[in-house]
Amino acid sequence: MSAKVAKARDRFGNFGFVLAAAGSAIGLGNIWKFPYIAYENEGGSFVVVYLLAILLIGAPIMLAEVVIGRRTEQSPVGAFLALAKSSGTSKGWSWVGWLGILAGFTILSYYAVIAGWTAYYFVKCLGWSMSGFTPEIADSLGPSFGAFLANGWLQTGLQVFFIAITVGVVAMGVKGGIERTTKILMPVLFAVLVLLAVVSSRTAGFSEALNFLFHIGPITADGALEAIGHAFFTLSLGMGAMITYGSYVSRRQSLPRAAVTICFLDTLIALLASLIMFSIIFSVPEAAREETFTKSATILFTTLPRMFYAMPGGAILSPVFYLLVSFAALTSTISLLEVIVSYFIDVKGWARRKATVFVGALICLFGVPSALSLGASSFFSDLTFKGNGGFLSIVDYLASNWFLPLGGLGIALFTGWWLAKNLSRDEIEIGHGKFALYGVWLFLLRFVCPLAIGWIIWAVLGGRSFA
Ligand code: PFF
Repeated sequence: MSAKVAKARDRFGNFGFVLAAAGSAIGLGNIWKFPYIAYENEGGSFVVVYLLAILLIGAPIMLAEVVIGRRTEQSPVGAFLALAKSSGTSKGWSWVGWLGILAGFTILSYYAVIAGWTAYYFVKCLGWSMSGFTPEIADSLGPSFGAFLANGWLQTGLQVFFIAITVGVVAMGVKGGIERTTKILMPVLFAVLVLLAVVSSRTAGFSEALNFLFHIGPITADGALEAIGHAFFTLSLGMGAMITYGSYVSRRQSLPRAAVTICFLDTLIALLASLIMFSIIFSVPEAAREETFTKSATILFTTLPRMFYAMPGGAILSPVFYLLVSFAALTSTISLLEVIVSYFIDVKGWARRKATVFVGALICLFGVPSALSLGASSFFSDLTFKGNGGFLSIVDYLASNWFLPLGGLGIALFTGWWLAKNLSRDEIEIGHGKFALYGVWLFLLRFVCPLAIGWIIWAVLGGRSFA
């Protein structure tokens, strides 16, 4: 059924894969979530554990996903079915693919809500830059943010708007839509972030920010777990996004080099974003800082605009910054949608446009409870599950604590123990040549990744929540 489709399969061009995959990885997880969890865990050692998690758990699983994707030229469910056929593994492994679809569906539905905020703040900052940013506006940012969240129509509208743009890109195909969009947006994102980093290096808070991020201090077990869990989310692992993108990669490309480049870029952006945010925040006198940190999850929307306008050039930089965060979010939502759409194309034989519009519409619907759970509907806002309040937090908890770690565990175990070694080695060496680290890679997949993920699952079973 799928062989026919595979022939006409779209492919990424040169650099297309690395940029699109880096676009998937780099998103709100880097610019919104990493800085605030780094802040909550007091930087320093948290960052070190995070770097180790990327290197020892993230990079090997990233490579495993692209190996599976390119070998089978299939989306996640189809990939495990195809391997069952060609290399005798059990069809039962397709649960990993199904879990990926569930995760993509769930994450996209709430991710689009938060992505919508970034687009809204772009427009808002543009307005403030033109009409003047007054002290009254600065003081009202905190309180008005609550009202913004509780505006159900606005939240739903922003969510639908963001998914509509995503649908538009994905409907245009892998090369014409995904690759073209990421090839424009990613370089812009890098350039503007570097510019912002240069500007922030001249602020009074820069050295404190550097010290905060890179000092060695105490770390709690919870902090370490959070760092490992976040490595999955930030690299888009555990749900088949990289299997899907890997299925469009040419056989001339080196997969290990691509995987390492993607991990490197993702980490670089998370560190740069934190450095920029902390430099701006630490530039404010300590006394004035305290109150702004009470809600670290909203730093990006309440604290940062205020800081921007307190610094020279902030009126220009702030809309640019929010536009850039929207770009980063868009290249991630594109990959989330592509995972599900590719299932309908590869396994069900649907046309791309039909699949994209159908899935996009379903996700918009499923996103409504998340959009309304920030104060607009008391029913959705008051729901609680395992200590997570509100529908959006609950689905985030399920995806980040269960779906992604379980999916990652499945991929590590499958590739490490079940997939024939000659097959994985062969696929890695196509386009790369001899892979000297094959044994190390296998060891990490077989022992280190399952142990680390097992630790996460055990902690979650014990009531810990990372969302
Ligand atoms: N990696 C994205 C981020 O850090 O924002 C989130 C994400 C995108 C997760 C795509 C999973 C995925 F498949």
